[in-house]
Amino acid sequence: MPAQMETRVLEIDPLEDCRAAYREAAALLAEGQLVAIPTETVYGLGADAFNADAVAQVFAVKERPHFDPLICHLPNAAAVHEIADVPEELRGLVDTLAAEFWPGPMTLVLPRKACVPDIVTSGLPTVACRVTSHEAMRGVAKALGHPVAAPSANRFGHISPTSAPAVLKELGGSIPLVLDAGACSEGLESTILAPCLDDKGNPAVRILREGPITREKLREVCRVVKAAKKGAQADTPAAPNAPGQLKSHYAPSKPLTLCSPFGPFTPQPGVRYGLISYKGESKLAQMDCWVEKMSLSPGSGRLAEAAVRLFAVMRAMDECEEVDAIVAEELPTVGLGAAMMDRLTRAAADRNA
Ligand code: TXA
Ligand code: MG
Repeated sequence: MPAQMETRVLEIDPLEDCRAAYREAAALLAEGQLVAIPTETVYGLGADAFNADAVAQVFAVKERPHFDPLICHLPNAAAVHEIADVPEELRGLVDTLAAEFWPGPMTLVLPRKACVPDIVTSGLPTVACRVTSHEAMRGVAKALGHPVAAPSANRFGHISPTSAPAVLKELGGSIPLVLDAGACSEGLESTILAPCLDDKGNPAVRILREGPITREKLREVCRVVKAAKKGAQADTPAAPNAPGQLKSHYAPSKPLTLCSPFGPFTPQPGVRYGLISYKGESKLAQMDCWVEKMSLSPGSGRLAEAAVRLFAVMRAMDECEEVDAIVAEELPTVGLGAAMMDRLTRAAADRNA
């Protein structure tokens, strides 16, 4: 564990002129230090992507295995070409995706350029590129003049932080600065896509991680092909996978079980259960075995509201002293529900499996 230090929280309001704060954050990054920076999805733990020693600190502070590569955050879509070689046959597709979804919660995995240090990509031939819609991350990358390599600002395998207090709980004392712009507006990590050619040689994308840009939205603008089979051969630009998408991830410290909103759920004697319900009105929510109940989108249920609140509610339930174990209601796997079920399934996975 790196040496303890005081973590300063610098509040920013992106509606005002924040350039001084971005310059301050960029100056720390230029010295090889780490800064937590908000994006619209979750807070990121940023380092200068071109400084391999600083990036090594990201892995150390997060206790993240080195096989799990980082996303490079860019100030604008044109900057992709500084770190990635977009193959000729995928240019049109990449331009369409960039025009449609950037700045926004989309990450593209593309063949990398040699200027990207090996440690950023875990030695893979590809680099993950993202242009967030959050002005803070783009502003810091612009002030730094290099891409910012930033994974979610949590310890490895834990719940991603969607607010500055959540970052402090995860990494307080290990980093010098958190830029605090309030709660994240999307709440779920970006959709990760690998542009590729389908079996007929037509441009398509493979979804490596479900996220706020849903499969349905993607299908409106491009072809979406199936993910590579589990245990498929090693990563290549033609057949990439997301090495960090482990079975157990996004995990609270308490055991979490998934259950249908219709039940049945059989409580174990002596265990105090907290329920994370979608609308708070299901058959499951009406059982009398819950010592605590939290709803993701009370009333009629909106997936977008549930997505924004999911990680904050998981964190609140994890911190609730009366609760020994968490039960989360299964969500409809359409639209944003697919990304939320992906996170909940990993949170529920046996950590020793
Ligand atoms: O919304 C987000 O994407 C947030 C914010 C901070 O940008 N970042 C984030 O980073 O979720 P992280 O490190 O928690 O997750 C990044 C995922 C990992 O699962 C990693 O395996 C995958 O991106 N990844 C990174 N580079 C890759 C590459 N070259 N090929 C395939 N997957 C890659
Ligand atoms: Mg993460």
